[in-house]
Amino acid sequence: MKEKKLAAANIVIFGGKGDLAWRKLIPAFYHLFIGGFLPDKFAIYGVHYEKMKEKDYELHLLEGINEFSRTGKADKKQWAKFVESVFYFEGDFTAEDTYRRMSDRLAANDKAWRVRAVRVFYYSVAPRFIEPISLWLATFHLASDTNNDRIVVEKPFGNDLPTARELNKLLTNHFKEKQIYRIDHYLGKETVQNLMAFRFANIVYESIWNNNFIEHVQITVAENIGVGSRGNYYEQAGALRDMIQNHLLQLLCVTAMEPPVTLEAEDVRSKKVDVLKAIRPFTKKDISQQVIRGQYGEGKLNGKKQRGYRQEKNVNPKSNTETFVAMKLFIDNWRWKNVPFYLRTGKCLAKTTSLIVIQFKQVPHSLFSSKVMSDTRPNQLITSIQPEMETTLLFHAKEPGVQLRIRPVEMDFTYKENYDTPVPEAYETLLLEVLEGDATLFMRADQVEEAWRVVTPILEAWKKPPAPRFPNYEPGSWGPKAADDLIKPEGCTWTLLPENGPAKTSTKKAK
Ligand code: BG6
Repeated sequence: MKEKKLAAANIVIFGGKGDLAWRKLIPAFYHLFIGGFLPDKFAIYGVHYEKMKEKDYELHLLEGINEFSRTGKADKKQWAKFVESVFYFEGDFTAEDTYRRMSDRLAANDKAWRVRAVRVFYYSVAPRFIEPISLWLATFHLASDTNNDRIVVEKPFGNDLPTARELNKLLTNHFKEKQIYRIDHYLGKETVQNLMAFRFANIVYESIWNNNFIEHVQITVAENIGVGSRGNYYEQAGALRDMIQNHLLQLLCVTAMEPPVTLEAEDVRSKKVDVLKAIRPFTKKDISQQVIRGQYGEGKLNGKKQRGYRQEKNVNPKSNTETFVAMKLFIDNWRWKNVPFYLRTGKCLAKTTSLIVIQFKQVPHSLFSSKVMSDTRPNQLITSIQPEMETTLLFHAKEPGVQLRIRPVEMDFTYKENYDTPVPEAYETLLLEVLEGDATLFMRADQVEEAWRVVTPILEAWKKPPAPRFPNYEPGSWGPKAADDLIKPEGCTWTLLPENGPAKTSTKKAK
C-alpha cells in the first residue's frame, strides 16, 4: 500500500445506490479511510435518480458494510466520521441539471479546501449511460484537468471487438487515455499482484519459465454458485464474455508476460498486450475442437436444490447461453511456442477456486524403476489465487527407510502461515491506485481490444447452428465431460490444489 497521501479528492459514484457501490465500493472506501489512506479532505457523492434522505442513504450504506465488510460490523466512531464525508446526490444521469449542480458542488469543495482536488468519476452504471455521462462531464468541463481527473469504467467493456472499439472511441473523444481506468478487479487481488513479485523478484523461476521446461499451463476460475439474480445480465454475457475475455485472459497475461523494463504502467501493460497479441487466432476448426461450452442443469449444489440455468429468473427457458467454458490456446512467441494453455471457468461447479497450474516436463531420463517410483507425475507449481491463497510446489523425494522409495511431496507457501496482516479487498487496492493516479493495474484500450480479438471469433461461431445440447453438466460437478477430454491428450487431468496429500492429478509417463 502507498504511503504518500493525497491533498484532497472529490469522488463521484454514478450508481451510488447500486449493488456494486453497496457491496464493494463503499466498504472499500471505508477500509481505506480507517487505514488512513484517504486524504484528509475528501467527499464521496453517490449519484442516483430517486429521492432519498441523506440519513436513509447512510443507513443503507451501513447495512452494506455490516453485511459485506471484510472486518465485520462497522466501528461506530469510525463510521460516524467516515459518513460525514459521504453524500447522497439525487440526479438523473442523462439530465443537464445533475451536472450543473455537481459542478457547483465540486467547485465549492475546491474553494473551501483551497486546492484543486483530484476528481474520480466512477461509472458503476448500465452500458447505455456511459455515453450521456461522458458527454455531460465534458460539456461542464468536470474532468478537464487531465493530470488530476479520472474516469473509472466497470465491465462489461463492450460486447465484442467492434463495440469495444466504439466504446474506446467514445471515451477517448472526451478524455485522454491516461484518465481512463478500465477495471478488471482480478488485477487488484493480492495473490494476482503477488504473481508479479513471484516471477520477477526471484531468480529461480525465470530459467525454467519457458517451453524448454514447461509442458502445459492450466488456469481455472471455478465458482460454486449459480447466476442467482443476475439472469438479465448473464443472458447477454455468458461465461466467455463474463470471465474469459477479462479475468482469465488477464491471469494468463501475468503468467506469460515477459519481464517489463520498469514497473511503470505503460511498460507493464505493453508486456501484457504482447501476450494477447501472440495468442494464436482461433480458426473454425480450432473452435470446434479446442473450445468447450457448457450449461448447468437442475440438480443439487451443496446439499440444496439448484435450479437449472434455464429455470433461473430472467433467463430464457430455451437459452443457449453458456455457463461454462474450457479452452486450449497457444501463445506463438519464443517463450511459449507449442506450450498449451488450458483455461476453464464455470458456475455451479464443485468448488469455488481459482488456480494457476504450471506443469513441468518429465525428467529427460528416469533412473528409478516403477517399483521404486510408482507415481511418476511431473513437477507442478500450483498457485491458488483464492480462496486458499497459497503456492505449492510438487516434487519427488525419498521416503525415509532402508529401502529406496520415492514419492511426490509438497512444499507450501501460505498467506495464513506467513502473515498476520489482513489482506485488502481487490477494490481497496484498485481505488487507492485510482486516487494515486497509477494505472498499472487497469486495462489500457489496446489490452481490452486484443482480449476481444481473441474471443470474438468464438462468439461468432457460436451464433451459428448447430445449437449446443444444453444442459450438459450437473451442478456440483466439474463441467461437461468434453472438458476433461480436452486435456486428456496431454495425458493429464485438470489439477486441483492438494487437500490431503499430493495434488489430485494424474499423468501418463512422458513418451
Ligand atoms: C465478475 C463476474 O466479474 O466476477 C461474476 O461478472 C463473477 O459472474 C465474479 O461471479 C467473480 O469474482 P470473484 O472476485 O468472486 O472471483
